[in-house]
Order: sequence, then structure tokens, then C-alpha cells
Amino acid sequence: MCGIVGCALRRRASDIIYGGLKQLEYRGYDSAGIATLSKGQLSIVKRQGKVRMLESCVDDLSGNVGIGHTRWATHGKPSDVNAHPHSAGKFAIVHNGIIENFTELKQKYFPDVQFLSDTDSEIIVRLLDKFYEGGLLPALKKVASLLSGSYAIVVICTDYDGIAAVKYKSPVIVGRGADGNFAASDAPALAGLCREISVLEDGDFALIDCAGISVFDNDLNPVERKIRPNLATPANLELAGCPHYMLKEIRESPRAISNTCAVFHTAEGELKKICGGVNRVILTGCGTAYNSGLVAKRYIEQFARIPCEAEIAGEFRYKNPVIDENTLVVAISQSGETADTVEAARLAKNSKARVVAVTNAPYSQLTGIADVVIPVAAGPEICVAATKSYAGQIAALYLLSGVLSGRDLTESLLQIPALCAQTVENTDISAVADMCARSSGVYFLGRDIDFAVALEGSLKLKEVSYIPSEGYPAGELKHGTLALIDENAAAVVVITGERLAGKSKNAVEQVLSRKGKVAVITCLDGIANELKDRATIVKIPDCGEFLSPLISSVALQLIAYKVAVTLNRDPDKPRNLAKSVTVE
Ligand code: G6P
Repeated sequence: MCGIVGCALRRRASDIIYGGLKQLEYRGYDSAGIATLSKGQLSIVKRQGKVRMLESCVDDLSGNVGIGHTRWATHGKPSDVNAHPHSAGKFAIVHNGIIENFTELKQKYFPDVQFLSDTDSEIIVRLLDKFYEGGLLPALKKVASLLSGSYAIVVICTDYDGIAAVKYKSPVIVGRGADGNFAASDAPALAGLCREISVLEDGDFALIDCAGISVFDNDLNPVERKIRPNLATPANLELAGCPHYMLKEIRESPRAISNTCAVFHTAEGELKKICGGVNRVILTGCGTAYNSGLVAKRYIEQFARIPCEAEIAGEFRYKNPVIDENTLVVAISQSGETADTVEAARLAKNSKARVVAVTNAPYSQLTGIADVVIPVAAGPEICVAATKSYAGQIAALYLLSGVLSGRDLTESLLQIPALCAQTVENTDISAVADMCARSSGVYFLGRDIDFAVALEGSLKLKEVSYIPSEGYPAGELKHGTLALIDENAAAVVVITGERLAGKSKNAVEQVLSRKGKVAVITCLDGIANELKDRATIVKIPDCGEFLSPLISSVALQLIAYKVAVTLNRDPDKPRNLAKSVTVE
């Protein structure tokens, strides 16, 4: 993770870099720094804390060339010293990724040198300084050849009036703008600065000065990379009157569903081809994306009757999975850059499986690996906790299950955006949020598809409120989790289908009889009436059991949001987390 931005401009660089870092904060926000180059002199400012810690220093940083970084710590705690940029001799660098062999490199090349920081990244700048003989690109190539792991690196050197970049398994985009030229981790950093961007490929190098951008392959031969529109604009990154991105993005869920349905046809033809003869489906992803896979497993098995598993990508990639050319592996990722999901897709591809990507990021690494990309058209998602992308993923996966079963399911989704909007606008979750905010632990329960949603509800709550939480199948409660229930604990039980309502109600009774507090999220009048005197009821619109996750999840997201706000947490930037986990 971490966000990086660099530029060579016809105006002062520091404020542009600062603005770019603010847009990349979702990638990490435990420390930040900027280095600029002016008349052959490097100036560096770095601080522990969010990007705004740099605001007062921006005016002191002169120079038209510079680099910046917002960090999510992997090696070395968040601190001023461990913040990037790191410098040595004529160089300053920013790095996103992990250098796995930094200890070996340090022992080999700098056995007696006391490094300034505890980071894996400092080795990069030390090596650059060591191997530099007057040519920036050859030195960068030499250093890159020594590194194992993943890296997006942007460099400034006092001998060069521009920036250089290299990338391997961590993203770098480059773009030309009216005031000069740029490199960054992701498109939002260049919103309003570049209408078009190019995505560097693994092994690419770039030299960027005020006059232009030159890209080179791993052998330093000049190459062209496709120019694509920058889909991030100042308008779609605004808060639009909302106090937080989380709320804004929950409100955008109906549009994420309808837009995803509207663009599904772009993948449909290729999907029909690739799905022929598939005898097994594996859905893989991390966090919320994995949870949407759990919902989709139900669709695929129900509608297509094809055996299907949902696998956590970080597990799947190391378990020597049984896959062959008749297996369809569906990699789900909002960002398309999550390291474990990208590697899971690569493994599937190398094992000759058919690979489909479901992603909100059309130019991401994942799209380069997949045979077919199903776009999630949720628009940029800034809040670290995923919300609208979950809705978009479920809609996309539902339609995929239609292709696998030879049925057109589009029509059944038509009413959903309106019901989802109704849920966003009219659902009163304040009593439940209050109950959760006062509880020592919150247990989200459900059966079957409601269990999949319960897992996502629990993830949302713990991410943004820091209240211990678990998602559990309602039937399993009595096999362990019940031991955690007392008068300080709460359960949020999701009940959307008549078929299993009675069974889930048993779990409600079990919690109540141990003095736990209970909230029930339901579309069923019968359940609401039976339990209204003993539990807090949140009534949601009924849209049938299978599509209910698109509605019930919204209620759970609103609860998590409200709890975070009640407890004075920042729901957009939860502690210790980052949105785009591009390292293992
Ligand atoms: C991080 C984020 C989660 C997200 C997960 C997968 O953990 O905090 O919100 O669900 O990564 O991200 P992806 O971009 O692959 O969907």
C-alpha cells in the first residue's frame, strides 16, 4: 500500500504533490513526506500522521520537481524517521511495496553502515547512491535487478531535472498535464491534472521531465504504453455534501447496482464463450470482495448447479488448489491491485484455468491477467471500508451466475436499485447503532445467504468502530460463540427468507435467554411482529431471498457508519488499515 506521487512541472511542485497525496490517503495514512529539488538542492519534509501534517511545510518547499508519499507501515513503525522520502547522497526515493531481501542486501553491501530508518525501503536509496555512475536509468536498472518483492519506486536525483520511476507488482501510472508531467500510484492523485494516463507494466522504467515522458522496458528499450482516459475527476471525488465518504458511498449503492447492470453486456459475449464446459467455479478475493464471493457461491450453485467454492485469495494461492482447464476462477477485487488476489488470479492462469476478473478498476493489474473482465461500475470508492463496490460486485456476480446457468437474470435486478435507495433513505438504524456502540462485542448471525451478509456486516462494524465482532452461522452459535454472550454483548440477526426464519429465530431466543441484546434485520412481517417486544427490529424491503444481500447489507453498513460516528472514529480512515493492500 502506500501512495506515491511525483512530478516535473513548470510551476512549484510541493502544493501539487500535497494535493495528490491527499487523494491517495486511502492507500495509507500513518505518515507522509515530500521531497523537492530546486537548483540542484534536495529539500525533504516528513512527518508521522496524516498528510495534513505536511500542510504547514508546503510553502517552504521550493522547486518544480518533487516526489511525495503517504505510508501504511509494513517494516518499521510509523514515525518521522521511517516516513518516506528516504535519501542518500544525490537521491531521494519513495517506495510502495515490500523489499523482501532487504536484510540480505544490507548485509552484503552495507555490513557496517547504520541505516537511518527501520524500513525495507531505505536499502533502495542506499543502493542507488552506491551504483550511480552518472546515468540515472542504468543505476535504477541495476538496483531493480537486485530487489526481490514488489515495488513502485519514484526517484529524484540532484543531477536530473525530473523524476524517474520503476515498477514491479505495485502500480504506477504516468500522465501528461497542462503544467507538466506526473507519476502516481493511482488515478485520483492526477484528477484535474491529467485527462489521460498510461499504466506502466511490470519491469517498466520511466523518465519524466517537464517536456515529456519516456517509458522503457526492462532492457531499457523505448516502449509506448496505451493512453487511456483518467476516470477520476475532481467532481467524482467530492464529498457531495456528505460528512464522510462512507455515507456518500453507501448512498451511491443503488447507482453502483444499476450502472454495473448497464455495462454487463460488454463482457457477456466473451463470458458465454469462456463459461462453456466449466465444471467447477472458484470465487476468490480478500475482505469484502471475498464476502461478495460467498454470496455469489450461493447463486452459482442454486442457478447453474455447478460446484462452487469461495476462497480467501491469500489462502488459495498457497494451497496447491486442484484446478484445470475446466475450472472457472473468478477473482473479485474493488481495486484490482490487492496482492493476494492478483497472485491468486496469476496462479489460476498458470494452471490453465479460465480466469474472470470482477473489478471496479478497469486498468488494474488484475485486468491484465484475466481472460474476461466483468466491470463493476461503482465509480471511485475512497472510504477504506468498501460499501458500494460490494453492491456492484454482487450485481455483477449475480449476472455471471445467469450466464453460467444459461438464463438472463437481468430483469430480476431491475427493481433492486429503487429498493436499495429506499433502504438507504428510510431505514432507521439509530437504536441498533446505539445498542452496538454500548456493547463489548457484537455477533452478526444469519443462515445461508443471510450468514454471508452477516460476515460482511461484522467486517464493516469492526473496521470502522473497533468493537470486537464476529459473523457466525446462526446454527453454529450454540457450538461456541454462545459462551461469549452476556448482558454486555449484542447480536444482530439477519432474517430475510421464510424458509429458515424459524431456525434463525432460535438463535435470537438463545441470545435473549443469556441476557444478550438483540437486533433483527428483517423483511418478514411475521418475524418482526413476533420479536418486536424483545428485540430491536429494523424492517427492510422484501426483494426475495437471493437478492436480499443487496438490501440487508445496506442496513448493516448504515449501522457500522453510525456506530463509528457515535464513537468518534473516522469511518473513512480506520486505524491500522488501508484500502489497497498491494503487499502480502
Ligand atoms: C482491504 C480493504 C477492504 C477490501 C480488501 C480487498 O482490506 O480495507 O475494504 O475489501 O482490502 O480489496 P479489493 O480492492 O481487492 O477489493
